[in-house]
Amino acid sequence: MMDRIAASHPIGIFDSGVGGLTVLSALRRRLPGESFLYLGDTARLPYGTKSAGTVQRYALKAAAHLLHHDVKLLVVACNTATSFALPELIDASPVPVAGVVEPGVRAALALGVHRIGVIGTEGTIRSGSYQRALARMDGSVSVRAVPCPLFVPLAEEGWGDHPVTDQVAQTYLTPLLEWGAEALILGCTHYPLLVPSLQRVVGPEVTLVDSASSVADAVATSYADLLERDLGGRGELFVHLTDASDHFLKVARHILGTLPEHLEVVHLDPDGRG
Ligand code: DGL
Repeated sequence: MMDRIAASHPIGIFDSGVGGLTVLSALRRRLPGESFLYLGDTARLPYGTKSAGTVQRYALKAAAHLLHHDVKLLVVACNTATSFALPELIDASPVPVAGVVEPGVRAALALGVHRIGVIGTEGTIRSGSYQRALARMDGSVSVRAVPCPLFVPLAEEGWGDHPVTDQVAQTYLTPLLEWGAEALILGCTHYPLLVPSLQRVVGPEVTLVDSASSVADAVATSYADLLERDLGGRGELFVHLTDASDHFLKVARHILGTLPEHLEVVHLDPDGRG
């Protein structure tokens, strides 16, 4: 039976899988009174290897599902969906939509470094979203962007601190280290789950920029008018998945410190296929 979503409108948040939980966790810490409805589109994971058109379609379906549950705000906790579909989501949504690319760029530029590496899915890097945002917000920084397609499966597997991840990271990141990257934007919400391995490989001199807390700050400050009336309450967490996933639950328990209170498998297509 379907869980009743909290009477107050929750904040809707989605990703293809577990990655967006890093953003959810930061949002819950920042806004403890809010209720959240998290959609993990596990039936369609990964987004990062798909074409722009396909990701737009998936993202619009995910957003429609959340809007159907009366969310008051949509957080796109996926860089690939933000990169390919943010304008379409904004057009389609009657409530405000927050993406993850700009907050990540802002956090990186706040470090005051000159050489910024960006890592993300093939889609995010191919879209040029980070390269454009960095150039627009500070034309003086040098930027190199590298796709790391094997990182999402490693994060989904829960191998964030693992010799295999170290080896894969070594291969992807050595060119960025040789180039002299001072900071590395984790341009995929799955990548913070790999920080133990990534930091070991890049060394202590390179700052890893996890945009989760900047996204939470941006939401808290930009949409204060929507959040005020919920202050003081105790937020609930509703999780909808488009496919049952043991990996999801294992990683969710690790990130959130507990299993979601309300968990449901949902279908986004009327014919029931995912
Ligand atoms: N976590 C997502 C991102 O931030 C996408 C991972 C995937 O589905 O490929 O890009």
